[in-house]
Amino acid sequence: MHNRFLNTTLSDRQNVLHPWGRLHPAEDSSFMLEGDGIHVVDGQGQALLDGIAGLWCVNVGYRRREIAEAMAAQAMKLPFYTAFMESGNEPSTRLAMALAAAAPGDLNRLFFTTGGSTANDSAIRFLHLLANNTGRPQKKHLITRADAYHGSTFLTASCSGKFSDRADLDVLETQVHHLGAVNPYRRPEGMSMEAFRDAKVAELEAKIVELGPENVAGFIAEPILASGGVVVPPAGYHRGTFDVCRKYGVRYISDEVVTGFGRLGHLFASEAVFGITPDIITCAKGLTSGYVPLGAMVLSDALCAATDVDGKAVFSHGFTYAAHPVACAAALANLEILATEQLYAHVRELSPYFLERLESLRALPLVGDVRGMGLLAGVEFVQNRHTRQALSAELAIGKRVAAECRQRGLIVRPLGSIVGISPPLIITREQVDVLVGILAEAIRAAADALTRDGIALDG
Ligand SMILES: Cc1ncc(COP(=O)(O)O)c(C=O)c1O
Repeated sequence: MHNRFLNTTLSDRQNVLHPWGRLHPAEDSSFMLEGDGIHVVDGQGQALLDGIAGLWCVNVGYRRREIAEAMAAQAMKLPFYTAFMESGNEPSTRLAMALAAAAPGDLNRLFFTTGGSTANDSAIRFLHLLANNTGRPQKKHLITRADAYHGSTFLTASCSGKFSDRADLDVLETQVHHLGAVNPYRRPEGMSMEAFRDAKVAELEAKIVELGPENVAGFIAEPILASGGVVVPPAGYHRGTFDVCRKYGVRYISDEVVTGFGRLGHLFASEAVFGITPDIITCAKGLTSGYVPLGAMVLSDALCAATDVDGKAVFSHGFTYAAHPVACAAALANLEILATEQLYAHVRELSPYFLERLESLRALPLVGDVRGMGLLAGVEFVQNRHTRQALSAELAIGKRVAAECRQRGLIVRPLGSIVGISPPLIITREQVDVLVGILAEAIRAAADALTRDGIALDG
């Protein structure tokens, strides 16, 4: 079909305002035109290994006909019908049943949203409903952590702990409380991992006691903090914080927007990897492998029962495109690929090799820390590897390394002085070798450039 709008020359500078973009960029953006497998092709025709899977989301890789066909078939059958006021559709019902079966414990109730921010926003608003319905309207304070990212609505941005993002925008100050970072690499000199873990768990307990448990609705946490620098908390931390929440009647929201759908080798990681069954799991991204927007929160039956005190409770909250039939059809096709291609097992098998190959980067200048789990990793760059002295933020080392990678055909995600890596889960061993090889070259090039500029590395 001819479309008059497809003949124009691509130029976005005047007409597009990008998320985290400048209001008046000097140049047009670089475009991605197509993708296949683990690769994308940019506007100049350069093929790039997508080491970040879009934005931690294209889990089954690009150009999956099964997903495209499922979406097309659903669009022809029923492209949309509202999910409001107990109106259902076929794909979202099937998807709810599949996710409830996969979720831990009694997490059986699905509330669909349009993405991760709206999933977390919904989870927090559900806790507001719980507080109001149970005659404790003051029990609405939330505890979160430095470096967390939970989204970009007013409420979820308030819960995020990437403080540089708040420089020019307002947040809700009164009900949200941030704990310190849980980055083991930045723990105090000489402190053991166990002592660090215990201190971080104790910090949560102290905050709950300080605020008064009767005032604290919930603790929201990513199992691994993704865009906050791929921070893997110490072993036992999740269990410890979960037990503290249980002790004080504080609800636990596990934000699995990045860690779900195979990234850590399981559909959900909370229980399978970290041994906790939260009150709410939120998810998005890998749910459809990013083919179309969709998010969800999975609520426990017990939480729903506790909220529905008189059997008449209503959750007056939702989005037009929630439970969108085309998105849910895409998610069902995506889940089928994850299962039939045994991508969960693939991630569990490949992960040790992936992390071991990345570990080899520690031999290079600049590399202070390499960390990760499953197919999610971060490399942190420092000026001095012995003292862990950070590089000046102005040097934008993450961006420099990412730019060197890009020139060599690899996309990684710059996150301050860190680069994040989360390739599509279909990546092979050989492709891991290519990824790590390019990253190593890029780090060497970035280190050489800094040295040429007179920056002394390692003292
Ligand atoms: C852990 C986490 N939670 C929530 C979100 C927000 O999801 P969305 O951008 O789909 O609204 C993100 C996005 O990157 C995320 O990484």
